[in-house]
Amino acid sequence: MEARSIVPRRYLDVLVDLSAVAHNTRVVRQAVSRPATAVMAVVKADAYGHGAIDVARAALDAGATWLGVCTTAEALELRRAGLDAPILAWVHTSAESMRLATAADVDVSVQSARTLAFAVDAGLDVRRHLAGSLSALTRPDLHLDMIRTGSALYGLLPYAERHRFDLRPAMRVTSQVALTKRVEAGQGVSYEHDWTAPSALNLALIPVGCADGIPCALSGRLTVSIRGRRYPVVGRICMDQMIVNCGDEKVEEGEEVVLIGSESDGDPTIHEWALALSTTPCEVATYFDRPHVNRQTVPAVGARPLTG
Ligand SMILES: Cc1ncc(COP(=O)(O)O)c(C=O)c1O
Repeated sequence: MEARSIVPRRYLDVLVDLSAVAHNTRVVRQAVSRPATAVMAVVKADAYGHGAIDVARAALDAGATWLGVCTTAEALELRRAGLDAPILAWVHTSAESMRLATAADVDVSVQSARTLAFAVDAGLDVRRHLAGSLSALTRPDLHLDMIRTGSALYGLLPYAERHRFDLRPAMRVTSQVALTKRVEAGQGVSYEHDWTAPSALNLALIPVGCADGIPCALSGRLTVSIRGRRYPVVGRICMDQMIVNCGDEKVEEGEEVVLIGSESDGDPTIHEWALALSTTPCEVATYFDRPHVNRQTVPAVGARPLTG
């Protein structure tokens, strides 16, 4: 038996709540001013790190009628999973890419004279769309035959807009306390001992780091939740470990550590990380799209059972 079936390869768990994706799809649907305007669920980059096949099914069940991806390979993965909704794949670097797409009944878009030349070979369906969640939600006057929405589906509008619509982030990221240790004042922590304990205190080792999608650039700026309380990560974030300062609180080995959770529960959020890293929430979500991260999906309430 492979080791992986007994123990996880790494210790980061990602939970994707498809009810949130379904809810967000309905919010976008309702914002569409013209009944004839179709909603395309953008599920490129493995649905912004949430899992393309499950997200696509949840969004289609909730009223999206199109799927959008970047590459032909992404589109073919959806087709192989049995998804027969219309798909648009928008970046092509060869005529072969367009031919394969067209053979799988995937629409292609043309962005330059070069891609137009590919398209002439492969057959072409030109459409007028409005791209992007924010304009889809805020500019009904611009709704054409379709809106293409990604970030809104995942509840990941930019930080400043995050409360403007009733959208719910769908991703929860957790690990667990691997080890606890009481240290004396003056004890240095992690590489170069960048941080030194100002007094005797309890430390907890969390067995995740930048190899799991937690950027070392968050060193000194990251907090986690344990049992509903926030604690700072101290010292440098390593490739596979980081240290949390629990002060005088005693946390137990094996306890859940929330890296990304719910804002209303006071947990750290993707939006918080994005702010600290001067990037978009969507980018942060893709950090956890790694083959060895354990990703599980919670089905949407009332949805068809998940397969595969
Ligand atoms: C061509 C295209 N349309 C639509 C979207 C969706 O944009 P958003 O995530 O802002 O909704 C993207 C994503 O960047 C895109 O590349």
